[in-house]
Amino acid sequence: MNSVKEVYGNRWTAWWRRNSTVLQVAATISCNLGYLLETGYTRTAAALSMVSLGGATLYYISKRRWKIKPRDLVVITGCNSGLGYSLAMHCRAQGATVLAGVRETAVVLKPNAVVESLKDRGVIVHQLDITSEESVREFGEKVKQLSEERQLALRALVNNAGVMVFGEFEWQTQELAEYQLSVNLLGTMRITRELMPIIRRNGGRIVVVSSHCAADPLPGISVYAATKAALHAWATALRVEVGKYGVNVVSFIPGGFISESNIMRRQRLHFDEMERHMSDEAKQFYGDYFTRYAEYFSQADLSSGNQDNIKVLSNSRIYETFDSALLEIHPSAVYRCEPWRYFFYRIMFKNTPMWIRDRLVQCFVNAPSWQIEKQ
Ligand SMILES: NC(=O)c1ccc[n+]([C@@H]2O[C@H](COP(=O)([O-])OP(=O)(O)OC[C@H]3O[C@@H](n4cnc5c(N)ncnc54)[C@H](OP(=O)(O)O)[C@@H]3O)[C@@H](O)[C@H]2O)c1
Repeated sequence: MNSVKEVYGNRWTAWWRRNSTVLQVAATISCNLGYLLETGYTRTAAALSMVSLGGATLYYISKRRWKIKPRDLVVITGCNSGLGYSLAMHCRAQGATVLAGVRETAVVLKPNAVVESLKDRGVIVHQLDITSEESVREFGEKVKQLSEERQLALRALVNNAGVMVFGEFEWQTQELAEYQLSVNLLGTMRITRELMPIIRRNGGRIVVVSSHCAADPLPGISVYAATKAALHAWATALRVEVGKYGVNVVSFIPGGFISESNIMRRQRLHFDEMERHMSDEAKQFYGDYFTRYAEYFSQADLSSGNQDNIKVLSNSRIYETFDSALLEIHPSAVYRCEPWRYFFYRIMFKNTPMWIRDRLVQCFVNAPSWQIEKQ
């Protein structure tokens, strides 16, 4: 099992990555100042130094972070695998008291290995199904009781729990659409509302785990993208509503790590359900496209979803970006962790005409091609 410290790597490397751009800018400005002084432009050099000093001060003020203390409580939803599990381990390793919400704390006839490994590291685990009113109320009671008994301050609620179903819109049944909406959007709202009094009292932070799909919806996950876009709209409005009494709301976009999480674990079952409900007319229209598509996207659930293979995510940038979202005293609205490929496509999606953009989207998703088998 990867330890969070192994993944997170050397703190100096992380510090360098975070500050390298500003150091390069500072070095360039210093060289220019030296040149201006050397060539006699003393007034310009003085003006430039004042502007640079002001800029640097503003930058450091905006990037200041609070330090995590053991009395800081971080609540994270959906910690059974992937990002939620990794963030729970990470926050605990940083010294926070972590309460991890897990949908199923016991697997039939055997202890949940994930829960055991969280507990081994000192993470407090409690059952939480964000689609259930009762479970959310009970979880809220747990947070209240923990805060009072241990004198903790709820620093952050990390809304991580989420589900995704791959498949073209027409194939997705109403139940599958409602399932995604009820977890990703309504469930997130439900747990946030429940914890709101404690968040308010502590001037805590609401971190909403979003996705690139919120701004750049992709074919095959239109419903999932719609839930993430709605979540983004909600977070944006909420930020202003609660900002007036000192609660921050930030969106955290963690990039892609499908092969290291369980998000595709039930994909085969979802395709089976789509096929069962597909009309004869649709079956005839889509031909073998559906089978090829289902085959292709079910492969992903073979590489993930192994309960016994408990790993934290290996990309250290996810933790660095998350720390900024969690700890910066004057936070930005959105924190994005993205590889170059995502960055490139995101910029191209925004700045190209529709017909190029739509072709680029197809390249990005790389789904099986649309061709009907000749009968
Ligand atoms: N994977 C990616 O590439 C990616 C990219 C961008 C954003 N994200 C976002 O990151 C978040 C975590 O995704 P992940 O990839 O780590 O997926 P994951 O491994 O499947 O984790 C999702 C977690 O949510 C939990 N969950 C599902 N339904 C729930 C419910 N009703 N109540 C409480 N918890 C529930 C799951 O529990 P069970 O296992 O018990 O169902 C699981 O622990 C999601 O919001 C996702 O949209 C993921």
